[in-house]
Amino acid sequence: MQLPPGPQTPAFVQLMQWVFSPMSFMDDCVRRYGDIYTLAMLGKNKPKLVFVSNPQAIQQILTQDTRTDFQAPGELNEIFRALLGENSVISLSGAQHQRQRQLMMPSLHGDRMRTYTNVINTVTTETLDRIQIGQTFDVRTITQQITLRTIMQAVFGLYQGERAEQLEQLLGELLDRGSSPMLVAMLYVPSLQQEFGGIGPWAVLQRKQRAVDALLYAEIQERRQHPDPARTDILSLLMSARDEAGEAMTDVELRDELLTLLTAGHETTATALAWALYWIHKLPAVKAKLLAELDGLNGACDLNSIAKLPYLDAVCNETLRIYPVAMLTFPRLSNKTVTLAGREILPQTVVMGSIYSTHQREDLYPQPQEFKPERFLERQFSPFEFLPFGGGARRCIGSAFAMMELKLALAKILSGWELELVDKRDIYPKRRGLVTAPERPIQLLVKSQRVPQQLASASKSFSSSNTIDS
Ligand code: HEM
Repeated sequence: MQLPPGPQTPAFVQLMQWVFSPMSFMDDCVRRYGDIYTLAMLGKNKPKLVFVSNPQAIQQILTQDTRTDFQAPGELNEIFRALLGENSVISLSGAQHQRQRQLMMPSLHGDRMRTYTNVINTVTTETLDRIQIGQTFDVRTITQQITLRTIMQAVFGLYQGERAEQLEQLLGELLDRGSSPMLVAMLYVPSLQQEFGGIGPWAVLQRKQRAVDALLYAEIQERRQHPDPARTDILSLLMSARDEAGEAMTDVELRDELLTLLTAGHETTATALAWALYWIHKLPAVKAKLLAELDGLNGACDLNSIAKLPYLDAVCNETLRIYPVAMLTFPRLSNKTVTLAGREILPQTVVMGSIYSTHQREDLYPQPQEFKPERFLERQFSPFEFLPFGGGARRCIGSAFAMMELKLALAKILSGWELELVDKRDIYPKRRGLVTAPERPIQLLVKSQRVPQQLASASKSFSSSNTIDS
């Protein structure tokens, strides 16, 4: 079978490069083979993967992924299935997949997001308030707290008490465990998923996962015993949904979907927020422009205004461009012979949109290694040139939610505190589990509190009657 060219090194070597240095591996492949190439990293008898960073080809794939040319089968998302189960929206295909997406979308879009603004503001303020002037803090700790509590509220509604605290703790530990390169290799190669007498990393991960499952099942049980039709959180919506045969979702189905939202909705946004704080404090001109924009709201700022601030929007976009948290889209499968970027692709070929390499294209983003929010003010990029949330049938269902979190948390932090990077040396990206994270912890020093009158009143109005566009 003729596939686009790619490295001829053994599969294991390719897998190690992909696990340990994915970005330089992709840069190297693009330099050698161009914007469509083939990797054989999954080994013998496994599909080869065609990586694509040509915008026209990406458009062809993502606009056709439920039509004649391509499909977006959940079966190909094997690496997620081990953790999230076969009933996760990520593992489902076709009509079932569409149905599950439609169930979850309303809770993550439009008016509903207003209810989460309070959580974002409160958690951000409480966390930063605990840090004394002159002290330093680890950015990831704070961004994870903000995003985990926010997604927990979306999923469970107002959620407090011992079980909520345990769940928060365990989910944090689960994601920390899952971030090691060894575990990533195990996700890509299921035969490596060995328990080694209960002491290997896979066994430890499984134990943490079972503890999380027990808490999720306890929550589901309690809701079944005490149904409350007034609840509008995602779990309630999922529990009240019925399929064509009038059947409700089983406990296992509910567990898979809850775990999907809690994990997909947490680490991704926490990482993006940490990167944004790094860039803003690394580049004084960016910070000055942002502060001027926030101050310029003159107290009349509401949630809508924050969402639409052009420079804040550009900073968030540039953060997601330069080191996209998700390096790839999920896999798509060709149904028939198609021509992509001048190459003939045969039926049953697995293609992946390389978000990272597309965002590094010199022709679209001159000096792609430079953080320049102005690019997003100077021109508009198509959804196939700038695609941090993927596209088509599997486009991220949390994109609006994530952008809202990023903007609100950044506005709150910048307007409330004067912070400074402790270590001003450059920080490069590194794989952390399945996302692109900073290679070392980002530490910020709290220099002083910055509470201009207008911004203090603005933050109060976040929780009032304003809405955000989705
Ligand atoms: C900065 C934050 C985030 C980034 C960069 C991100 C990125 C992505 C990407 C690239 C995809 C694959 C799209 C494709 O294959 O075309 C995806 C899918 C998904 N994301 Fe996100 N995401 C983020 C936040 C979130 C949040 C907050 C949630 C939930 C609240 C979420 C839930 C999901 C789910 C469930 C899918 C699978 C959709 C499907 O299979 O139909 N994500 N995300």
